[in-house]
Amino acid sequence: MTRTEILKATESFVKKSLLGAEGGHDWFHTLRVYRSAMVIAEGEKVDLLTVGLGALLHDIADAKFHDGDESIGPQIATNFLTSLQLPQPVIDDVVDIIENISYKNSIEDPGNSPKTKALEIVQDADRLDAIGAIGISRAFNYGGFRNRPIYDPDIKPVTHLSKDSYKKSTAPTINHFYEKLLGLKDKMNTETAKKLAEERHQYMLDFLEQFYGEWEGTR
Ligand code: ADP
Ligand code: NI
Repeated sequence: MTRTEILKATESFVKKSLLGAEGGHDWFHTLRVYRSAMVIAEGEKVDLLTVGLGALLHDIADAKFHDGDESIGPQIATNFLTSLQLPQPVIDDVVDIIENISYKNSIEDPGNSPKTKALEIVQDADRLDAIGAIGISRAFNYGGFRNRPIYDPDIKPVTHLSKDSYKKSTAPTINHFYEKLLGLKDKMNTETAKKLAEERHQYMLDFLEQFYGEWEGTR
């Protein structure tokens, strides 16, 4: 199989698997992450097949939609990639991306363990999709999906020090900006993503200012 054929086959597999997914973690999220990953990869020395497959498969079975089971995604990806008879080192690197991309796993490991270049790129692409206009849309969609309040001035944002407390949070969606989204621009791995993150970050700050103004009735 050529690289294009491999990516095409993966695309149809992922599309099918994500039918009915929550709007912020659906096929179009995957497609945006794929596109951003390709843009970022242009400036890096990296295997594009690994990056492409990692982006396409990164949310194939997100643990938060599978009772917290973190082994399903890597397992599904391993089975699929093995069925395509890809070289073992490529499979290993792609599965490594799926296992280590998640924000919650970075809470207890603030950037100290070494990452492959491909993981750095797909992680940046995934984080870019969590900020800016798209990031705002996704946050409120997820909040609605979980039936969370939009905002409650009496519930203050907290700093989650453990993966467990982050996962258990039932806080209003506005809190998620302070608990995660506004911190993402400083967590980007690559220079390209750092630059792209700036405008998206500012857009969220403007949004919040407008939001509070409207909340108080002053704007
Ligand atoms: P990851 O899947 O990388 O571990 P998250 O679980 O934090 O990251 O979620 C990915 C996206 O889902 C977030 O960027 C956001 O859009 C949405 N999301 C997750 N948790 C919340 C939350 N508590 N409130 C609002 N949106 C959330
Ligand atoms: Ni994702």
